[in-house]
Parts: sequence; structure tokens; C-alpha cells
Amino acid sequence: MRSLLDLPVSLERHSPVPLSSQLAGWLRRAMLAGTLAAGERLPSSRGLAAQLAVSRTVVTEAYQQLYAEGWLEGRHGSGTFVAALEEAADRTGLPPSAPAPARTPVPAASPRTSEGIDLRPGRPWVRDYDDAAWKRAWRRAADLPPGDSPDPYGLPRLRELLAGHLRRARAVAVGPENILVTRGTGNGLDLCALALLGAGTRAGVEDPGYHVARTVFAARGAEVVPCPVDEDGVVVDGLPGDLRLLYTTPAHQYPLGGRLPIPRRERLLAWARRSGAMIVEDDYDAEFRYDVGPLPALYGLDPSRVVLLGTLSKTLAPDVGVGWLVGPPELVDRIAALRLAVADRTSGPVQQAVATLLERGDLDRHLRRMRLEYARRRAAVVEILGPVCRLRGDTAGLHVLAELPHDAIGRVVERAAERGVLLDVPERHWHTPGAPLGLVIGYGSASLPDVRRACHVLAELIRTS
Ligand SMILES: Cc1ncc(COP(=O)(O)O)c(C=O)c1O
Repeated sequence: MRSLLDLPVSLERHSPVPLSSQLAGWLRRAMLAGTLAAGERLPSSRGLAAQLAVSRTVVTEAYQQLYAEGWLEGRHGSGTFVAALEEAADRTGLPPSAPAPARTPVPAASPRTSEGIDLRPGRPWVRDYDDAAWKRAWRRAADLPPGDSPDPYGLPRLRELLAGHLRRARAVAVGPENILVTRGTGNGLDLCALALLGAGTRAGVEDPGYHVARTVFAARGAEVVPCPVDEDGVVVDGLPGDLRLLYTTPAHQYPLGGRLPIPRRERLLAWARRSGAMIVEDDYDAEFRYDVGPLPALYGLDPSRVVLLGTLSKTLAPDVGVGWLVGPPELVDRIAALRLAVADRTSGPVQQAVATLLERGDLDRHLRRMRLEYARRRAAVVEILGPVCRLRGDTAGLHVLAELPHDAIGRVVERAAERGVLLDVPERHWHTPGAPLGLVIGYGSASLPDVRRACHVLAELIRTS
């Protein structure tokens, strides 16, 4: 039988990196690559120390570190083993999630790339859906013949259902006449730009903010104007008076995580009425809140000045390609006409399938289940990283901002990659160069055990950076 003692562990004795860290790093890479599989037994610290000609403390320190990170587990009296993901999840001490409806078991493991555990933001967990509901929705969509002229507003049945969903979940008084079905937020931004922007216009975007909004507006010929953001969200005082539109994320500012307080929402709307600008409200994270319920959407406070964009990308999967645009009926009509002119549309069969998921309550059930799952991951991030750095935006969404001194950011990203933790490049979110405040850490697409492991690695890197 193969044993770890046969594997080529090489330690660099003259390196400034302690031998125990080198050994822990080697073992981590072997576990990530699958060379050491779940359940495999590791040699005793005495045996491995002798094999590597190092002191036993080097091995015990490496093992202890990997225990803390959740990679290893001890079985009483029988040694040290590579942890299985499911068991690692059970060891977290967190309460189990509410009983889920019967569904086809799907693997709990994160998608492991050769780079390791993915903590980049904007990626939801797409492996834990209700398989039976998904198939049923597609069977119903397939029962209908394909249509010959796509409705630029979207399917009437889906628009009715979305109106009900928005009234219930976002407390906005909308009817189907206010709604146009998009292929997601990116498509919604482009349709707004098509209707409102063009050469010679100025479009405000939050800085830091969602890079897709900057790119889409610039591609439609507008001048992109960065608008400062503080702890609570976009800063209203000092907004220019000549913007055609302002893109904002009041539910959970992307990426700092603030929630725009009501008085500031009122001031923002007053600014829009004064200046004649439209506000494009990206409502992308409103569904996932962990402390208190969401504030009502901006759109509900003044439907004449706001276009609200929603998406299924976080609540179901980005691959589905369905979202919605809600606005004043005249603007929705104009967008629908322009949409026809550029032959843009949302797939009919996809809309039929989504309508069935909404109609049967499958989407709501999925959302409730995922809210619990994400809450556990978020709790793990806060528990492990909270003591080593200031976290922002941890009360909602699928990411947090971990504040770091500017000169430490690049170092941590690089060293994390060496240890199998994939992080976003924070520069992408800031319009102003050199301004990043920290790391944007997404916990949507890694399993709970992987989130814990990766956070232990990050905590150590932050402590020593
Ligand atoms: C701020 C923000 N808005 C919206 C989205 C979703 O966009 P789409 O619906 O185009 O997938 C994301 C995804 O990462 C996001 O980060």
C-alpha cells in the first residue's frame, strides 16, 4: 500500500519559511490535488519526522495547523486522517440547517479548480438545487411549442408572477406593465444605457462599484463619472447635477456592503428629481440578509425616478440568464421598442421554466434553504477573520470586505494563491487607481468546510503580513 512516506516531500532547509509551514503547504497542495485523498491515514509525527530528518515538533506543528484549518481529523487511538468534506462540515459546531424537502443528493464539495478554493465574489452556490423541481419546470417548458415572435417585454405569465414576487418580497407596488424580463442585470444595464445614454451624456457609477456598469455605460458612449461611497452607500452631497443616470446598489453596496439609510434614500431621490437624472437601482443582494429584513426598494419610494434591476443570478444561477427591469411604464415601453429595434430578447423556453419555478413556490423554497446555508458560511467568515481584521458588509449578500493596509493586499492575494486560495483582484472594483481598502471575499461558491479552511489560511496570512 502506498504511504505518505513514499511521496516526494521536499523541504528547503535554508528558506526563511519555517519548515513546519513548508510541510503544511506541501500537505495542503497534495490534498487539493487529490494525491492525498479523504480518509487517507497520515504517518505518525515520529515516523514522518524520522523520514524527513526533521524534529518531531516540525511535523506536529504542521499537523496542528492543518487540524485548525479543517484539512485533517483525528480518530481516537488510530491516528491522523485527511478529513472528508462532509465530516468537516459537521465539526463546525454550527446548527444544522432546517430540514430540506426531498431532493436528489448532490455533491457537497466545492468546484475545486487546480488553483484551489475559490473565494472570488459574485459566484453563488449552484450545486444544491431541487432536482425534481428543476426537471419538472423544464418538462413544462418543453410541452409548449417554440414561439415565432418573441415579446420584447417578456412572457405575460412570467411578468405577472414577477410582479407578485416583487410585491411580496420587496414591498413595491408593481403590475406587469412596469416589468420587462431581461437576461440578467448586465442586460438590464445595457437596455437602460440604450434608452438613456449615448455620446455626450454622463453616467454616474459608485466608486468603488460594479465594474460591469462602468464597462456597459462606456460602451454605449457615455462618460463614466465615479461617485464616492462611504460606510452607508453612495454619498449624495456633491453628486453632479448633470448626470443622465446614476447606478447604485442601495440594498448592499457593492463591494463595501453598506445599506443606504432611509434619510439618505430620500435625499438621493430629491437630488434625482432636481437634476432630472434616473436612478438605476441594482437590487442584486436584497434576498440575502442576516441581521434584519431588507429596507424597501428605492423604486417603491419614487417609481417615477427609478429603474429597478433584479436577477436570478444569485438566487438560482447565473447560467439561467433571467432578470427583470422595473420602471415607469413610459420608460419600459421605450425600452421594449428599442429592444425590438436591436433584436434583443430573453429566451421564451427559459422564461417558461422560470415561471413554473416561481408559480410552484420552488424558487422561494430554494431561497429559504440557501439563506440558511449562506448564513452558516458567513458566520464562519466572521468567526475566523473577525479577530484579525475589520470586516465590512457582513450583514447581507455573499461577500464581505476585509480591510487591510494597502501595501498588504497584493501580498496576501499572492500568498493565498500559493496556498490554494483564490481571491479577487480588488483593483477591479475601484475606479480610482490605488484606492482599494481591502479584500473582497466571496463565500458563495465554496462549501462551508472549504470556506473555513480558506479563512484559516487567510487569517494566518493577514496576521503575518
Ligand atoms: C453588483 C452586481 N450586480 C449584479 C450581478 C449579477 O449580474 P447578472 O444578472 O448580469 O448575472 C452581480 C454578479 O456578480 C453583481 O456583482
